[in-house]
Amino acid sequence: MAEAVYPVPAEWSRNALIDDARYQEMYERSVSEPEAFWREEARRIDWIKPFSVVKQTSFHEEDFGISWFTDGTLNLSANCLDRHLVERGDQIAILWEPDSPTAPDRRITYRQLYEQVCRLANLLKARGVRKGERVTLYLPMVPEAAVAMLACARIGAIHSIVFAGFSPDALAGRIQDCDSRVVLTADEGLRGGKKVPLKANVDEALKACPGVDSVIVLAHTKSGVPMAEGRDIDWASAVADQAAECEPVEMSAEDPLFILYTSGSTGKPKGVLHTTGGYSVWASMTHEYVFDYRPGQIYWCAADIGWVTGHSYVVYGPLMNGATTVMFEGVPNFPDPSRFWQVVDKFGVEIFYGAPTALRALMREGDDWVKKTSRQSLRLLGSVGEPINPEAWSWYHEVVGEGRCPIVDTWWQTETGGVMISPLPGATPLKPGSATRPMFGVQPKLLDNDGKEIEGPGDGCLVITDSWPGQMRTVWGDHERFFQTYFSTFKGTYFTGDGCRRDEDGYYWITGRIDDVINVSGHRMGTAEIESALVAHPKVAEAAVVGMPHEIKGQGIYAFVTCNAEVEPDDALRKELIAWVRHEIGPIATPDVIQFAPGLPKTRSGKIMRRILRKIGENDVSNLGDTSTLADPSVVDNLLANRPQPV
Ligand code: PRX
Repeated sequence: MAEAVYPVPAEWSRNALIDDARYQEMYERSVSEPEAFWREEARRIDWIKPFSVVKQTSFHEEDFGISWFTDGTLNLSANCLDRHLVERGDQIAILWEPDSPTAPDRRITYRQLYEQVCRLANLLKARGVRKGERVTLYLPMVPEAAVAMLACARIGAIHSIVFAGFSPDALAGRIQDCDSRVVLTADEGLRGGKKVPLKANVDEALKACPGVDSVIVLAHTKSGVPMAEGRDIDWASAVADQAAECEPVEMSAEDPLFILYTSGSTGKPKGVLHTTGGYSVWASMTHEYVFDYRPGQIYWCAADIGWVTGHSYVVYGPLMNGATTVMFEGVPNFPDPSRFWQVVDKFGVEIFYGAPTALRALMREGDDWVKKTSRQSLRLLGSVGEPINPEAWSWYHEVVGEGRCPIVDTWWQTETGGVMISPLPGATPLKPGSATRPMFGVQPKLLDNDGKEIEGPGDGCLVITDSWPGQMRTVWGDHERFFQTYFSTFKGTYFTGDGCRRDEDGYYWITGRIDDVINVSGHRMGTAEIESALVAHPKVAEAAVVGMPHEIKGQGIYAFVTCNAEVEPDDALRKELIAWVRHEIGPIATPDVIQFAPGLPKTRSGKIMRRILRKIGENDVSNLGDTSTLADPSVVDNLLANRPQPV
């Protein structure tokens, strides 16, 4: 059956920055003459010292290396702030909407943001923070989170943001891994009317982090948290003493900008490192072209700054491009499921960028919550983080956008720094569920499991064959792991971990992770991480975690747990284990199903056959494939007989 195709509205192809002909021409040039293409694109950045070298990159083991604009120098905070002061100093940079609609919002101009950033940068310097030092941010969605990122970038400190939903343990692991001495946090966060005890979590985490000597605490809810003498500093009073000017540090293009921990298929989360020059060019360029962005338009990316989407598309991309960027503290369904669209109306949002999981949750609440708002300001909608199912796509398009707003379904990853495959609204006819075509400079290929290229339409492993400026440069503290994780599976290419189909029009359809990573509500979780949290419980002998289809979250977490011999598993233990995982990692890792199993399906060499567990998780048990190599095939019968009722 032919897929539905939505042509580019005439008005969009007439008025957009990039129409189809221009996309084709630019894409062709970006891959045939990358040096010339990027030399031009990089002009969007104010370089302190212009670069002469554009690109020195190889994905091959013998000369492996990734470096862009190598001899150029710049400062990203200056690109987000200083250069806008003359023209748009009084324009609002950040429109902040609090968790509760009855609390006051905040509107911060570029000049005010500049001053706040300079004051905090000076405070960090006064606490001894130097270029190259790691600073951990554990903050709610408040403007100060953006201020903190920009203050770090201003003085060349490397920020590592830990999502404020992570547990003290998860926070401690990340502080230790990058060896931060300074942590920025708030007394409490607020989400959906609930308080999140951020400072208490930091206090707990720091028991395991003796190296931390400064904690800068924002009084957000003003709950009056205990402050440790000598270590804890009240943010507002400390910055009040600092000067409102701070010279930006001249950074080399390849100087590190930030670390962001993300889950992989094995081991602990890895610190994805992005550097300054290439990331800036990529975040600014993709933000401008994907959203057809013109300075001053009201733009809202509903992601949290704890994830890469918040880095590139709440803060850096929009601010480099002179945007008015909306920052929202709350959640889509509090106090009711109209909240997103009320905020759209309140601020006159023109471009809205959100995650399919939120859309699915809102869709379930019925159309009235949407229809009672106006949404006349909306022109363009975006989707990110996970595949968007055609049903949610249609709802977004017809109900939220009333059929007039194109949807940009953007595929990318923490590792890629910015959007890699996406429609451009003035150029690309849309197909619901497809991320469509590659961004400039992105060269995707599909390979079969043996690494053989699939030409034309087909299904395979998605790899990228050449570097792009926004690519991550290393895993913090483990360059070998960087190479092994991404460049060793298929030699000479970057392996994304995603499966993908290409159709007869050359459109890309991401089918989901093909490694042991699951995507829960658009958040990436390593099954290994959840397994090791479960196994850390004294009553658990062994655990295996797989994904399962989930109507709202996209994927849910299905855990098979083998208890120690003397333990009688029951519902109470099930609840205890759920609470345990929440405590070890955070609420986003809450298992949806725990199946107690006396044994797990293993090969004779002791390897768990995850393929079988995945099928059970997916409730696709009619054909479990070859089980003859199992040490004890009866284990599978037991698993099938004792499956918990689907939730
Ligand atoms: O599986 C893909 C999925 O999210 C993964 C990357 O997750 P993360 O690093 O947390 O970054 C999320 C925000 C960019 C990818 O490997 N993914 C992301 N966007 C899409 C997607 N899957 C399908 N369609 C998308 N638009």
